[in-house]
Amino acid sequence: MARPPTTPLFSGPPPRINPSTTPRNDLHPLPGGWHDSLRAPATDDVEVLITRTRVPPVLVTGATGRVGRVVVDLLIDAGVPARALTHRSEAAATLPANVEVVTGDLTVPESLDAGLRGVGAVFLVWTAPPTTAPAVVERLATYARRVVFLSSPHQTPHPFFQQPNPMAVLHADIERLIAAAGVESTIIRPGVFASNALFWWASAIRADGVVRWPYGAAETAPVDDRDVGAVAARTLYQDGHAGGDYVLTGPESLGQAEQVSIIGDVLGRRIKFEELSPDEFRSETEGSWPRPVVDMLLAAWGATIGRPAFITSTVFDILGSAPRSFRQWVADHATAFMEGPTPSSRPSPRSGSGPRSPWGPVPRPPGSPWHSS
Ligand SMILES: NC(=O)c1ccc[n+]([C@@H]2O[C@H](COP(=O)([O-])OP(=O)(O)OC[C@H]3O[C@@H](n4cnc5c(N)ncnc54)[C@H](OP(=O)(O)O)[C@@H]3O)[C@@H](O)[C@H]2O)c1
Repeated sequence: MARPPTTPLFSGPPPRINPSTTPRNDLHPLPGGWHDSLRAPATDDVEVLITRTRVPPVLVTGATGRVGRVVVDLLIDAGVPARALTHRSEAAATLPANVEVVTGDLTVPESLDAGLRGVGAVFLVWTAPPTTAPAVVERLATYARRVVFLSSPHQTPHPFFQQPNPMAVLHADIERLIAAAGVESTIIRPGVFASNALFWWASAIRADGVVRWPYGAAETAPVDDRDVGAVAARTLYQDGHAGGDYVLTGPESLGQAEQVSIIGDVLGRRIKFEELSPDEFRSETEGSWPRPVVDMLLAAWGATIGRPAFITSTVFDILGSAPRSFRQWVADHATAFMEGPTPSSRPSPRSGSGPRSPWGPVPRPPGSPWHSS
């Protein structure tokens, strides 16, 4: 994966924070709070260089994932020691050489102890079943002063985010655990990731340039994973984000068919969008996507038809730079749409070459053995 461009840090005046997305505290990029020891120092600041030696590491879970990887890079760029958690040892090879790598598994809470020793903050990405979440959050609160949690906008009053959604239930459960643990926290709530486009459409684009998909008119505001990671990194080392609750979106509302058309435009290829009914989509993804994910997406897309996507200014408010557009994201990942496994015939989810779910393990609905409440 290409290293993300470096976001300028502390190169201008403190960014303005939108009170609607930042419930507490002003942003203090200079000394003044508990987080001073994690701030990114100016290299000519002797006092800070002394402080740097005392900067406790940040444990980054999901460090080999889309967002965690960016967080690791930006922490390192900011001079903050990053400790990357991996649970598959082979994944460690994909991390930068100058990052400390620890192994641990969210489903085995005690396996996290070594990585948690001496940390100041934790970036929590939960992609495991929920059973061990209470024990893990308790451990994080024992070792760290701050947890930044990658959640979703399940509290946002827009129909897209208010449909039945097992991921949202899991995220809400973990937020409650974090609040009850009494640890300082920041909740990051990105909407739909721009990179979902790769999981969803790249194999069809490579195969025959025909994307068969439901709800072409459903509008979302895809957010660039690099912007999500940049906001998360800021909240991990910059003062003033305790209690922050940030809904992150991309800058524009785009229909799904329009997003496919932008991809074709950037690639210089004609890509056809063929509308599927919800039932056709269910049968196309049968066997390759978890049914709860399919139903969750269909409900969200269906509910948003006829409305523009929900958009916030939070990326700009926190980073002081505009969120990247979907077109920009596609341009920066164009090769990924052209190279890679090309199915020999039309993508068939049953043969494993069809659209891939970007969600990984999906919790079962309440009442199932996986569910904690
Ligand atoms: N896709 C979206 O549009 C969207 C929108 C809002 C929120 N989100 C949320 O974003 C999160 C996913 O973030 P992402 O896309 O950056 O992740 P990702 O790319 O799917 O990567 C998953 C990460 O989780 C790690 N992991 C998996 N199982 C683990 C375990 N048992 N113990 C420890 N680590 C484990 C993996 O580590 P290894 O490489 O070592 O296996 C990997 O680093 C999810 O909570 C999702 O709900 C997604």
